[in-house]
Formats: sequence, structure tokens, C-alpha cells
Amino acid sequence: MPRRGVGRGRTRARRTARDAPQRRPGGPSRAEELERLAATIRACRLCPLGRSRTHAVVYRGSLRPRAVFVGEAPGAEEDRQGVPFVGRSGAILDKAVASLGDDLGPYGVLNVVKCRPPANRFDPGAARACRPYLDRQLELLAPEFLVPLGAKALRALAPEAPPILRTAGQELASRYGVLFPLVHPAATLRSRRLAERWQDDLGLLHAWLRGRPLQRA
Ligand code: URA
Repeated sequence: MPRRGVGRGRTRARRTARDAPQRRPGGPSRAEELERLAATIRACRLCPLGRSRTHAVVYRGSLRPRAVFVGEAPGAEEDRQGVPFVGRSGAILDKAVASLGDDLGPYGVLNVVKCRPPANRFDPGAARACRPYLDRQLELLAPEFLVPLGAKALRALAPEAPPILRTAGQELASRYGVLFPLVHPAATLRSRRLAERWQDDLGLLHAWLRGRPLQRA
């Protein structure tokens, strides 16, 4: 059932990888800057999670993504492998992405918090410490839109937005550009209602993507 638009209206003009910061002559390439940033994140000790983690979890996906999926924080499997969304939530996300086919285009996956919080409890202090990393990743990747997964990711990207269950499945303006929030894939494992919501919202995302054909850079 279509839901009322929340936060629709004016969103920033579409961004593409072409809008990413320009390389200064003789300066590092975007890929080099992303790799340097990844090395900084992997060595980070700005908060206590830097000591309890196995691996910092930085990014997986295209270096010129059209869309970036933004999760909360790594879980146990992500901490073990150092890669975002490779556990049960990742399997759900990968299946969803596959269902979008060519309409999605190149994409990437990252988290607001880069290190696993003990007992997987979201840590606002860690989110504050990681914020410059998130901002710089998004600046360098310059996706056309972001897909916050769940309430914590939505709050990090659009603190003023209505709750996730009112915003999931529709376009939303933010200071990070266009968002298309979804409930967190892990929530679909806990609740049949949220599993149905996930499927409904994926259908809405797919329809939205068909209405904004991929612009090849
Ligand atoms: N949940 C998240 O939010 N991120 C991950 O990387 C894995 C599970």
C-alpha cells in the first residue's frame, strides 16, 4: 500500500561519482585517498572499541557507487572478516540487491560505526568518534543516493527525520543528499511484520529506481 510521503520535496540535485572531489594535479587519486582513509580507520584507537575489535570494518563494493547502503555497526562475522554485511544480515541484503538487478547499478556497503560494539549494542560515543570517517568516505565515494538500514543509520544521516517506520520505503532529503531508508535486514529475522515491510519497501525502492534510470558516468 502506498504510504504518504515524508520529507519528500526538494532534495539536492543528483550526485554522481563525477561530483567527487577533483584530483589535484600530482595529488593522490580517489582510490588512493580511499585506501589511505581505510588504513587510518584500521589503525584507529579513538574510542574503546578500537581495543576490543578483531578488525575494523571499512567498506565493500564499487569505488564509483551509485548507491551506498549504510548499516549500524559490524556484527561478529564482520568483525572476524573485516568486511561489512557478511553475516546473516549480509545474506539478506545481498539477496535484496540481487532482486534489484541492473536497476540498482554499482553500489557499496559500509557502517556508521567501524568496529564491533560488545554484545552488538549500538554505541553513540563510537558513532561520534567515527563520524569524520563516515563523512570522508561519503565525500570521496559521492554516491547519487544513500540507503540507511535501520533506525540508527537513519538517525546518523538525518537526525531530524521521522522514525524509520514512517520513512522507510520512500525518498527523503538530508544534508547527505537523497536517502531511501529501509528497515534493518536483521529486523526481518525477528519479526514477520518487519520481514513483510522489508519486502514491501524493496518493491518501492525498485519502482523508485525504475523512475530514475542509471546515468552512466
Ligand atoms: N549489521 C550492520 O548494521 N552492519 C553490518 O556490517 C552487519 C550487520
